[in-house]
Amino acid sequence: MSRYDEIYARAHNQPELFWEEAAEEIHWYKKWDKVLDRSNPPFYRWFPGGAVNTCYDALDRHIDEKGHGDRLALIYDSPVTDKLRRFSYAELRQEVALFAGALSKLGVGKGDRVLIYMPMVPQTVVAMLASARIGAIHSVVFGGFAAPELATRIDDAKPKVIVAGSCGIEPGRIVPYKPLLDAAIELADHKPQKCLIMQREEKPADLIPGRDIDWNEAMENAQAHECVPVDSNDPVYILYTSGTTGIPKGIVRDSAGHMVALKWTMTNTYDTAPGEVYWAASDVGWVVGHSYIVYGPLLQGCTSVLYEGKPVGTPDAGAFWRVMADHKVKTMFTAPTALRAIKREDPDAKLMADYDLTSFKALFLAGERADPTTVEWAARHLGTPVIDHWWQTETGWSITGNFLGLGALPIKYGSSTKPAPGFDLQVLNEQAIEVQAGEIGALSVKLPMPPGCLPTLWKNDEGYISSYLEDYPGYYKTGDAGYVDEEGYVWVMTRTDDIINVAGHRLSTGAMEEVLAAHPDVAECAVMGVHDELKGQVPLGLMVLKVGVNRSPEEIVFESVQMVRDKIGPVASFKTAIVVKRLPKTRSGKILRGTMQKIADNEDYRMPATIDDPDILEEIAEALATVGYPQS
Ligand code: COA
Ligand code: AMP
Repeated sequence: MSRYDEIYARAHNQPELFWEEAAEEIHWYKKWDKVLDRSNPPFYRWFPGGAVNTCYDALDRHIDEKGHGDRLALIYDSPVTDKLRRFSYAELRQEVALFAGALSKLGVGKGDRVLIYMPMVPQTVVAMLASARIGAIHSVVFGGFAAPELATRIDDAKPKVIVAGSCGIEPGRIVPYKPLLDAAIELADHKPQKCLIMQREEKPADLIPGRDIDWNEAMENAQAHECVPVDSNDPVYILYTSGTTGIPKGIVRDSAGHMVALKWTMTNTYDTAPGEVYWAASDVGWVVGHSYIVYGPLLQGCTSVLYEGKPVGTPDAGAFWRVMADHKVKTMFTAPTALRAIKREDPDAKLMADYDLTSFKALFLAGERADPTTVEWAARHLGTPVIDHWWQTETGWSITGNFLGLGALPIKYGSSTKPAPGFDLQVLNEQAIEVQAGEIGALSVKLPMPPGCLPTLWKNDEGYISSYLEDYPGYYKTGDAGYVDEEGYVWVMTRTDDIINVAGHRLSTGAMEEVLAAHPDVAECAVMGVHDELKGQVPLGLMVLKVGVNRSPEEIVFESVQMVRDKIGPVASFKTAIVVKRLPKTRSGKILRGTMQKIADNEDYRMPATIDDPDILEEIAEALATVGYPQS
């Protein structure tokens, strides 16, 4: 029996005992009344009755209890602004405590929401931790989202205060955030009381008197604030993620379970120890950024790297190796798409030779399916394990993985290895019956899920049930399909809904369809995810025009691309659309998106038995050819 098998079995057979032991790793102002409250299924609560503070465990504990105030907590490395800044734990706490004081002065307290719309700068981390320090709930919105997406989140989270940067910096262009924020507040029904604006010298913003406050001024006038204990189940944050409609889901993260789970992963999944350098090359706007740029590394007492740059172009395809060498990174986490971008520019990884990577020990990948070619390429050049692990915003940590701290299992390229201790992963057929090894089905987790996973959706218990629990009673539906092989390895194949993964970013094609459908000339439309060499998938739109519309299709396509950019944001990477005469449907009127996607990707498909008119597929193939699909 491997160490993994032993630990997995313990977590499976005695979950309460297993997680109670793990919970000893965090600081409790008051111990829990019960490890797991199972009294109200399908809702489960970990460590009810306990009192904790996430910021205390992330910062104060290392300084006051362990004497590690001088250790590096954060390294801000920004090739796009040519800046480098290091913060010790003591320095970071000073900033956080002051900003917590600034928030408190504005009336923000326990349970209030603080929405954060910021680029990859240290102030973003400060704002998140400061919010946690005073028991408020933060909700970070990724900078690549447009004003209407931000407005939806403002209306759902109803923040008392919004913290925003004046701009983000993308290679070659400055993205002014403040006009997007102003437009979003205008669109939203809920209005924040105040906005705290972090001015960047690259593009300072005009402030609205009475509503907007300059970050620096707020800090100058603030007093350091202590940590405020909160209940184990009080949320530390809400993070919105794409659902199957245009309305994003507010994933809630409870305070105690989140810390217990992340701390466990830092030791067992990633094999890190306090003082070591950990780098997640993601964005704080995504769950990976929450869990492994901010909370996981800091809870563990590691040094976290905050990188404001890209894998290529800032300045070249050696950027990742440069950061790894400069900061003696031991463990790194990124999305496969970043490696594909590097491989495309530097196929033989020649630039790696310029850097000393002797400190580097393991690379972890997630966010999308890791194609074996890319994983193998990285492993060959780095000479370290390259580990694919599968997870989602909802779970907050990996459902499957190869647990370095428990002794690595043999890697099978294309598989994300085995379920994490605490996750009872099952593959279900449509009748909710567990299938045999090797058979594809819905990847589902038997309830209760381990600590750290979503307890519900923000103010939406019903939505939580209907989105995740209704289809397979007693199980959490991940929305991914795949299989488990004879050796227990998990193979995640595809989503079962309309979610696509574009460059590791999770997007809803349904949301894009809603935008296209709002174009005055469009009668009906479909958006599907098609294969892309770099980004894994990109969206492609098909539009049928209203009868009598005789404007040029190119013009309508151009407008539709712009609409998606304006309504959802550049992150959607919606660049290709075509006008078609009609869309293929089943006799009951369901659009055959899956069949069209297979045509675009040159995959085999079976003519759907219920298709209304098979000739339409030929028309679609001809139309797709005009925009280069299938790609050669
Ligand atoms: N603020 C504003 N705009 C942003 C943004 C942000 N924070 N992040 C991305 N965008 C914009 C980009 O500038 C781009 O705009 P464009 O259409 O005008 O070029 C668009 O959104 C799409 O961005 P992206 O998908 O990142 O593509 P890219 O072509 O700029 O870069 C990669 C491609 C592969 C280099 C990049 O996607 C990457 O580094 N991916 C890593 C994946 C990752 O971190 N995933 C997170 C989960 S682990
Ligand atoms: P997000 O919530 O943005 O993290 O996206 C989660 C989704 O990304 C999952 O449901 C999967 O569809 C996909 N995903 C994440 N990691 C992997 C992986 N390692 N392999 C395959 N798909 C993945």
